[in-house]
Amino acid sequence: MIKYLKDISVQEKKVILRVDYNVPIENGKITNTKKIDDSFETLNYLVKEGAKIIILSHFGRVKSEEDKEANSLKPVFDYMKGLGRYDILYSSVAMGTMLDNMARALEPGQMILVENTRYLDLQGNLESDCDAQLATYWAGLADIYIDDAFGSMHRNHASITGIPKYLPSVAGFLVEKEISNLQPLIQNPTRPFVVVMGGAKLDDKIELIYSLAETADHILLGGGIANTFLKAAGYDVGSSLVSDEAVRNAKAIMQEFPDKIILPKDMITSPSYEEKYELKKLDEIVIDDVIGDIGSEAIQNFKRIIESANTIFINGTVGMYEQKPFSNGTQEILNIVSNTKAKKIVGGGDAGTATKKYGYEEKMDFISTGGGSTLTFIANHTLPGIDALKINIDKLETLD
Ligand code: 3PG
Repeated sequence: MIKYLKDISVQEKKVILRVDYNVPIENGKITNTKKIDDSFETLNYLVKEGAKIIILSHFGRVKSEEDKEANSLKPVFDYMKGLGRYDILYSSVAMGTMLDNMARALEPGQMILVENTRYLDLQGNLESDCDAQLATYWAGLADIYIDDAFGSMHRNHASITGIPKYLPSVAGFLVEKEISNLQPLIQNPTRPFVVVMGGAKLDDKIELIYSLAETADHILLGGGIANTFLKAAGYDVGSSLVSDEAVRNAKAIMQEFPDKIILPKDMITSPSYEEKYELKKLDEIVIDDVIGDIGSEAIQNFKRIIESANTIFINGTVGMYEQKPFSNGTQEILNIVSNTKAKKIVGGGDAGTATKKYGYEEKMDFISTGGGSTLTFIANHTLPGIDALKINIDKLETLD
């Protein structure tokens, strides 16, 4: 059991609010503000209660000095300031005198957006290796820790699992909503429960697919993930993206759950990404072919299964939908899902972005802000960031 923001009083308290403002940015402009907008419920409540708010978030990966500029949270600050709704300040450092002074001077209802926590990875991976001194430093700035960063709660990082070791901690409204919408997928989903999975990277998802296969009735695979399973099933996938390390595990999953894993039997291919696209059956793939999308037969087969579902969870996209010739499968699958009466949950990341791009947001029951974290939560039933909120649960009783 964890506690939520509504369970405690934050009146005039100094709080650290960990959010996930890792939003897509192109040419300095945020292209999808959902993760920021979804945190406003918590922020508005904290402002109303007169809390003094220190906002922490990571952004991208920071491995060298050169990475800093492209991974600054300044565009997020500009967006929030530009709304004209918040008394918001910006700390260009994530640790040090400037932040200390700003935190000390905070007024009730005022907030500081602190620069990318991963800037501190340049001083020896302090954030990403969950450095205890860094976590203690941040904890020392506030009375309470609030985690509203659902999309990052699968990370064992200082600002996620470190700070709650030293402060009474709760989950914010965004995290509460995520848990209440995703939990039914774990605890007794209304069956048939169908999972549609795609996306390029499989290495970090293969174990999660195994757990999902135990719960779901069918798992429909597309994208790079399907290529790996097709290879494991003995098919030639030409020059398509394959996760060689995952082939053995994919084979084991198909052996254990032979009826649950459903693979595409035709696909849109292009010879080594040339501008020539063809619909091919599995046995027609040749060495130069790159699979970019699922084909019409696969769409019809997936449709039949999706239409039988009472609960649907989508994670990733079934093709390289950003490239026009490969976008049809993703769009069609979203269209089919959105027209069912099933409970429809979309994992964040690419699936969320595609849902928005093709205009299906309103038709879905819930779009998670998490990508990897959503999948991990469904597979493992908890997250490191959730477990961390339990550590100091007793201290919440003694807050005045
Ligand atoms: C995400 O966008 O999936 C989260 O913000 C986590 O980001 P990360 O994979 O860089 O930890």
